[in-house]
Amino acid sequence: MFKLIVLAVLFTMGYSQLTGGYTNRPDLIHSTLAAQFVKLAKSKIEGENNLYLVNDKVTHVETQVVAGINYKITFTADSLLTSSSVICTAVVYQNFSGAQKLTSTECI
Ligand SMILES: *[C@@H]1O[C@H](CO)[C@@H](O)[C@H](O)[C@H]1NC(C)=O
Repeated sequence: MFKLIVLAVLFTMGYSQLTGGYTNRPDLIHSTLAAQFVKLAKSKIEGENNLYLVNDKVTHVETQVVAGINYKITFTADSLLTSSSVICTAVVYQNFSGAQKLTSTECI
């Protein structure tokens, strides 16, 4: 039984390596870093889509090491004007000096 669990974990890790090398970081979901990145992503999304998002909640954080770190943050939020909800994914790149840049945002 234990061996099966180890195999399953190894398979999952190998699989995540194949799909872009992102590592799941549930430990960062409630971090100030994730909150800061959501704030950054929200203002860009709001500006581009003429939305006002409230009740944002981080649901998923993944990181990828690439001459720095890519943080992929998934969060949900409610649109105040249309009273609908969105699920957004933002990628923030942080280089080795700590400079942060929002590289992509996408909402569905
Ligand atoms: C990180 O980015 C900042 C701002 O673009 C730049 O000044 C700095 O040299 C970069 N550091 C590295 C290690 O690439």
